[in-house]
Order: sequence, then structure tokens, then C-alpha cells
Amino acid sequence: MTDFIPVNEPLLIGNEKKYLEECIDTGWISSEGPFVKKFETEFAKTVNRKYGISVCNGSVALEVAVAASGIGPGDEVIMPTFTIISCASAIVRAGAVPVLVDAEKETWNMNVEQIEEKITKRTKAIMVVHIYGLPVDMNPILQLAEKYNLFIIEDAAEVIGQTYFDKPCGSFGDISIFSFYPNKHITTGEGGMVVTDNEKLAEKCKSLRNLCFQPQQRFLHDELGWNFRLSNIQAAIGVAQVEQLDNTIFRKREIGIRYLNNLNSLSNVQLPQLKTDYAENIFWVFGVVLCDVNYPDAPSVMELLKTKNIGTRPFFWPMHEQPVFHKMGLFQNESHPNAENIARNGFYIPSGLAITDEQIDTVSDILLELFD
Ligand SMILES: Cc1ncc(COP(=O)(O)O)c(C=O)c1O
Repeated sequence: MTDFIPVNEPLLIGNEKKYLEECIDTGWISSEGPFVKKFETEFAKTVNRKYGISVCNGSVALEVAVAASGIGPGDEVIMPTFTIISCASAIVRAGAVPVLVDAEKETWNMNVEQIEEKITKRTKAIMVVHIYGLPVDMNPILQLAEKYNLFIIEDAAEVIGQTYFDKPCGSFGDISIFSFYPNKHITTGEGGMVVTDNEKLAEKCKSLRNLCFQPQQRFLHDELGWNFRLSNIQAAIGVAQVEQLDNTIFRKREIGIRYLNNLNSLSNVQLPQLKTDYAENIFWVFGVVLCDVNYPDAPSVMELLKTKNIGTRPFFWPMHEQPVFHKMGLFQNESHPNAENIARNGFYIPSGLAITDEQIDTVSDILLELFD
């Protein structure tokens, strides 16, 4: 039996240790330390944005982005049902209403063709979320935003280092966000970033993440903010991780392509798409969707893989099937069949940066044995 192969293990093999030692040697461990500014600048550069505002995770980056965009009661925001709850909760907490579109069968991204029919007088923004490594088809969304004067909030948490027609993901939103959780292409343990080219929005985000302290009189507040600051220790790791980004993306592609080659004979399992017209997959995760109803369901297969020392994670569960939102009276009787199908039949297999080719082959052999 192989040793346990975790679904994700990060790799910290650059200057992380050196920069962390610097934090300890200098005593700079809070958010006031120099690595925070450096990380914001260096990261913003990777996505061609003028401003980067670091925060303590991707979920709060969404809260800040929604709040800074002025979204509030009476507003609607169109978003995919197939995503993490942080997207919808940021909208709901702001007092606005999320309006959902289904996922595409092939890419698992939001179905762009469903957006226009959901636009009403109350629609304020489209929240775009790039899922699992392939970007959303942005051009039609940019056209809709222009036509209906809508704001774009772009969640690029899963596509650090990805491009859409050669332009970085995270450069399309009026405001865009990232997460630096350890399964992301840049990690700081926990962490996140809001990026924008709009100076006013950037100032607003900075204020919101820091309790809305005022420069003139620090402890007098016009508005309520949060303490969502990133520490110098986390940012130090982030700076080292940015230095590695090109290698990271190269390796993630290698991992994805090795799995695709190993598993391409499987006819009853949908694998990630290698590319679209506008991007090549960077395989943030390597998802598989079971297509044959005669096979055991995804939870049983995941259990079975666990007994063989293979870690897995289920796919997201759609927003329109979340009890917490039903209790609020949201999404009653909504149906989004593609999202429902991939949520029930999808899971992802080990593909963290620390995985070896040998481990990829081991996982592949076990899947081939199971499904061939
Ligand atoms: C698309 C997306 N947005 C936001 C988040 C939230 O990020 P965090 O876990 O840093 O709060 C995640 C987390 O995986 C995500 O996948």
C-alpha cells in the first residue's frame, strides 16, 4: 500500500525561510512591516493592476470588494451557483440579493449565455468566478457590463497565474480578488488580496480592511470597517511565493497533462478540459466527474480511494441548494441542472505542488483499475 497521498500539499522551497528569518530578526511581525507593501506591489504587478490591498483571506477579500463597490440593500448581483459560499455570503451580508446562473457542462464555469436574461433594473454587478483552472469567457461579460452599466467583481482566487486571451485573470474586474490559502498557486498560509486600477476604490478597500481609522483623527470613525489585515510574516511568505509563480504554473500544467494522458482511456469519467479558445488550463485542481450512473456514486468512490490512501475533496455544492439560504427565503425551487450534476458526481484528486510524478501515476493506476 502506498503512503497517504494528500489532495494538496504546498511547496515552500524558495526564499520563504530566509524572509521569515528577516521578520524575526527585525521584529517586524505585524501588518506594519515592510513585506506587506512589497507583497502588495509585487503581486499587483503579476496581474497588471495599479493597486493591491492585502487582507487576511479570500473570503474577506470578497466582503471588502462588495462593500467598496457600494453594493447594498435593493441591489442584485449576478453570480454562478457553482462556487464557494464566500461569494454569495459577501453579497447577502451587504444586504443585496445574489441572482444565480448555472454552470457550463464542459468548463464548470458560469454559463455566460444565461446572464443577460437575469439582468433587471436592480442589477448592480456581475460577480465572475473562475472555476478550477479555466477562466470564464470574459468578452461577452465585459460587453454586457458596458451595455447595462454594471460593475464587475472578479473572483480570481483559483486562477493565480492564468490568462484570458493573454491578459491576466484578475485584471478584468473593476475590482478583483484572490485567495492565498495553501492550495492556491501563491500561498501565505491564510491570506487574500483585492486588486484594482481605481484609486478611489483602492483607498476605500484600505480603509475598510483597517477598521476605517481616519488619517486626521485615528479613533474617530465615519464608517464601520473590519480588521482584515495581513501580517508581515504572511506577506514574507507571499513575496517568496510570487518569485516562484512561473515555475508553479509550469508544474501545475505538467501535473494536469500527466493525469490527462494517464486517464484519457476512461470513457465514463469526465476529465478537465485541456484548453478553450481563450486559455490553456492551469489545473488549479484536477476534477473528475463520474458520468455513468451504474457506477458507485462519488461519495462511495471517494471513500474507496481513502481506503487506498488517496486523498480527495468533493466539488462545491451549488448555492441554490444551501439550507442557510433557503432559511433566508432565497433560491426557493430554483434548479440549475449542470451544477447539480457536477456537485453530485464530481470530486478532485491529489494535485498539489508537492506531488511527484510517481504519485500521479499511482493515483491514475488506481482510477484506471476502478473505472476501466
Ligand atoms: C473561488 C474562491 N473564492 C474565494 C475563496 C475563499 O478564499 P479563502 O479560503 O482564502 O477564504 C475560495 C477558496 O478556496 C475560492 O475557491
